[in-house]
Amino acid sequence: MSQLSRPTIIAGNWKMFMTIAEATDFISHFAPAVKGCEPKVYLAVPFTLIGKSVEASLGTNVVIGAQNMHNETGGAFTGEISAPMLRDVKAQFVLLGHSERRHIFGETSPFINKKVKRALLEDIQPIVCIGETKKEREGGTMKEVIEVQLNQSLSGVSASELEHIVIAYEPVWAIGSGLTATPEQAQEVHLFCREIVKKKWGKEAAERIPILYGGSVKPSNVRILMDQPDLDGVLVGGASLSADSFAKIVNFQTTKV
Ligand code: PGA
Repeated sequence: MSQLSRPTIIAGNWKMFMTIAEATDFISHFAPAVKGCEPKVYLAVPFTLIGKSVEASLGTNVVIGAQNMHNETGGAFTGEISAPMLRDVKAQFVLLGHSERRHIFGETSPFINKKVKRALLEDIQPIVCIGETKKEREGGTMKEVIEVQLNQSLSGVSASELEHIVIAYEPVWAIGSGLTATPEQAQEVHLFCREIVKKKWGKEAAERIPILYGGSVKPSNVRILMDQPDLDGVLVGGASLSADSFAKIVNFQTTKV
């Protein structure tokens, strides 16, 4: 399968870390270190940091986005943030259905689907996260779980809308655990996701959609993961909190580890 039409995306997910001062300091060190690099560089930051991070990354190739949003555009949803609010602070993408949202906050794929549709309407690129638990993998239901998550999260999305979507495969057991999926394990699921996309939206859509891997990605393992034909990038949690280690991941083609 040709990778020519798929961009490489290296995305960081800061989760609930960083203050404004830390974020601006990070970007001032990180942006020069990834200047002119081939992959697209995304940073999903906490809501409070979006405005200042966008400002700090002006004129660089660092793209700032959010880690979540609500599907409604406004209303009595205490504590929530809407897509127009994200647009207002110039967030360009949003993580949707991250495993911490699914497992800690009880978000379901049908709910994530509403958010995906809203993000598309508001011109914010959705990065739709899916992934199985250890129990599901060991119990033999991994593929079923992945297929249901993908189908439900992307239900009703047209082929042309799909062009704006990125999928992130993040096995729950690999997130923040130090247990990275082997390149072969990741490749197997990425290929499976592409087959699901092909069944539903056709061959071209399957070839075009970027599929990122997430779960304990570090400077020392990014390269062997990226060697897999169906991995188009990575979504990085812990290792994206240090400008040095995240720059090494972005520059994986030339980083010596
Ligand atoms: P991790 O997190 O790199 O710390 O495992 C990945 C993620 O949650 O996106």
